[in-house]
Amino acid sequence: MDSIYIHGGITLQGQVRVQGSKNAVLPVMAATLLTEGTSIIRNCPRLKDVYHMQTLLESLGCVTARDKETLKIRATDVDILHASKGMPEDAVRGMRSSIILLGALLGRLGEVRVEYPGGCVIGERPIDIHIEALKKLNVHFEEKSYGLYAYSSELRGAEIGLAVPSVGATENLILAAVRALGTTVIRGAAREPEIATLCEYLAACGADITGIGSSTLVIQGTKELAGTDFEIPGDRIVAGTYLCACMATGGEVLLKEAPIRQMQETILTAERMGAVCQKTKEGLYVQVEERLQSPQKLITAPYPGFPTDMQSPFLPVLALAEGECFVEENIFENRFHIVPYLEAMGADIRQIDARHVRVRGTEELTGSPVSAKELRGGAALVIAGVAARGETVVDGCKFIERGYENICRDLRELGVRIYGV
Ligand code: UD1
Repeated sequence: MDSIYIHGGITLQGQVRVQGSKNAVLPVMAATLLTEGTSIIRNCPRLKDVYHMQTLLESLGCVTARDKETLKIRATDVDILHASKGMPEDAVRGMRSSIILLGALLGRLGEVRVEYPGGCVIGERPIDIHIEALKKLNVHFEEKSYGLYAYSSELRGAEIGLAVPSVGATENLILAAVRALGTTVIRGAAREPEIATLCEYLAACGADITGIGSSTLVIQGTKELAGTDFEIPGDRIVAGTYLCACMATGGEVLLKEAPIRQMQETILTAERMGAVCQKTKEGLYVQVEERLQSPQKLITAPYPGFPTDMQSPFLPVLALAEGECFVEENIFENRFHIVPYLEAMGADIRQIDARHVRVRGTEELTGSPVSAKELRGGAALVIAGVAARGETVVDGCKFIERGYENICRDLRELGVRIYGV
């Protein structure tokens, strides 16, 4: 799909099932490498990143089979022989989270060759925290022409403090520590729900992890882990995206299987603005009858704070709410790519600097050709198009497809005239 065509301006009505979580399933898939048996992973979303990870696991000796939303992974035959052949470049490059294989392969084989996802060099920002923390578990790193070679004659438990609660670094540490000798204590661990999901999967396989959900994790290394049957929770960001769509247009929707407990800050913000959000047996019920009020401030922070991934989807909502809002992005440096597009659609939005924007609510947005440059910003442009009067065409949809199984199908279920070509 290259482009999405939207005829916007209607209120949303209906119900839609929220797909399984992308950011939860990828580390769980990587974690299967640490097991000797077969894992059955349920509610696995159909996304390119998931297929890439499946390809990578197969290249390492795993046997995988997919039946609808269920993915079976047998990791019995993972060995150095497979690993030494190298992983398919397309799959590694195509998926940023391939870096998560670092911890998993160190735990399984004691060595790993990885290409840099995106081609960054050792010590630079994106994975410096991963590397420094893994070094404490007795991992050594060498920079090679192909990327990075990491090895350890014996992973040893250690006390590690993370200065920044990096999600990926916490995941890599957990994956290595479950197979290390002795105890690992991770302080300042990220508390994002995807980390709890990873720990719960590993615990079901026989790992000994305490402090799950907190910022201090204590992990006793285990020699052997078995496979298990595990269900991936609904995707909190996808659910939040459809919540935002309803907030931008008004209406009444039921987001089935939305992981409500993981969405506190998002739901709280929506309620503060005037949306009615109710937990039902089936999921999250949302009703928006009147024009919403601006929350005045929206500040992203590590979990349980307001998620950076929800910042973009909220921008079109703020653009249509009554009043002014100051938005501060504290996690990523450059997450306001959609501002000029929203302006072109009639939003009163001004970027103050790389991390701050000010949005003044207007009555209406107008459809326009726009272009997605990244995943969540792309989804936010779709929301803007759904709310805008007239036709919006969103280009660059390959970015949106990285995180949404089928955003057009889902929004059609809610009554939107939207199709992808
Ligand atoms: C994960 C999520 C992403 C989400 C983010 C924050 C996945 C696949 N992606 O990304 O959707 O937006 O958490 O909730 O789960 N940093 C460093 N050095 C490092 C690692 C990180 O400087 O070694 C910086 C990053 O540049 C960023 C911040 O720390 O500014 C947070 O990054 P991190 O928590 O690691 O995010 P990801 O795991 O990449």
